[in-house]
Amino acid sequence: MRLEWGLAVVAAAVALSGCNISTPVAAAVPGGDPEKGKAAIDHYGCGGCHTIAGVRGALGKVGPPLTGIGSRMYVAGMLTNTPDHVESWIRDPKAVNPGTAMPVLGVTDADARNIVSYLYTLQQ
Ligand code: HEC
Repeated sequence: MRLEWGLAVVAAAVALSGCNISTPVAAAVPGGDPEKGKAAIDHYGCGGCHTIAGVRGALGKVGPPLTGIGSRMYVAGMLTNTPDHVESWIRDPKAVNPGTAMPVLGVTDADARNIVSYLYTLQQ
């Protein structure tokens, strides 16, 4: 009987954590403002190279589309997809991969944070 209850608790915990996965990851970017991020994406011209859902004119095909990046496992082919990793990539992609074609655009800390919080709203 005890064991069964234990299993029920584990099953409930799994069900709850499964639930967390489907909530927008944007909530997991502390200090990020998705709306400001969208404006920053426009400001830095990310859309010239990337297709980004919800950003007008962001139809670039130079780099990979960022649509759906919120549910991706890796970014830039080498970083696990965490807010800190995506932020450091956006701020200085050449520091992560000196051979990358993505330029260093002088994105500020705050702008990068906001951009990540917007990108994380793009789940599919
Ligand atoms: C001149 C073109 C160019 C511009 C401008 C540009 N990028 Fe990129 N970006 C790239 C390329 C090319 C890659 C693929 C690089 C690689 O994998 O080494 C990339 C990769 C990325 C990735 C990883 C994508 C993935 O599928 O894993 C992210 C996130 C990203 N860029 C965000 C941005 C943001 C945000 C901006 C604006 C601040 C921006 N990029 C501006 C060319 C650009």
